[in-house]
Amino acid sequence: MMYPDVQRAQSELALAGQMNPGPWTEHSRNVALAARRIAEACGGLDADRAFVCGLLHDIGRRAGVAAMRHIIDGYDYAAAQGWDAVARVCLTHSFPLQDIETDIGKKDITPAQYAFICRYLAGVEYDDYDRLIILCDALADANGFCILEKRFVDTARRYGVFPFTVDRWNRTYAFKEDFERRIGRSIYTLLPHIEACIYT
Ligand SMILES: [Fe+2]
Repeated sequence: MMYPDVQRAQSELALAGQMNPGPWTEHSRNVALAARRIAEACGGLDADRAFVCGLLHDIGRRAGVAAMRHIIDGYDYAAAQGWDAVARVCLTHSFPLQDIETDIGKKDITPAQYAFICRYLAGVEYDDYDRLIILCDALADANGFCILEKRFVDTARRYGVFPFTVDRWNRTYAFKEDFERRIGRSIYTLLPHIEACIYT
């Protein structure tokens, strides 16, 4: 079984939220909703897999407050359950560019974990679910949905800009445009109340 069923994924997230309470669980539910809607509109994708990957992409946060460590904790947890489809998005979702040095979070990981992530990113070919969860991660917070421009500017204002910042943006836009080509319209038409993001 590459991923758990929806009910199991929801109970996993609820349990993880008790272990490490925070807005990340509601963010995860919104990522899942966006992923399901886009997958359904696209056709050819497994909407349940998209939903479950959205719910569990940050499941590594069950282990506590962490920066880059959450991706490896999530990968290890999901892989230990045999949920390979979830494990990969736990690892790939922080990297629109397949390069560990293009994530601005603190590297609270061991040298062995650093080497593992490097090797994994060098060897993996992103599939639709990797691209979908990276995109939806940028479209959803705990309160709802948000256009990419607002998310990117908010992040740049908080953390600054880096040599790879625009490349990261452009890769995420390329994912968005690819899904939109397949859907035939803007993904924003699929996200309930997205217009609310301009008022906050
Ligand atoms: Fe996320």
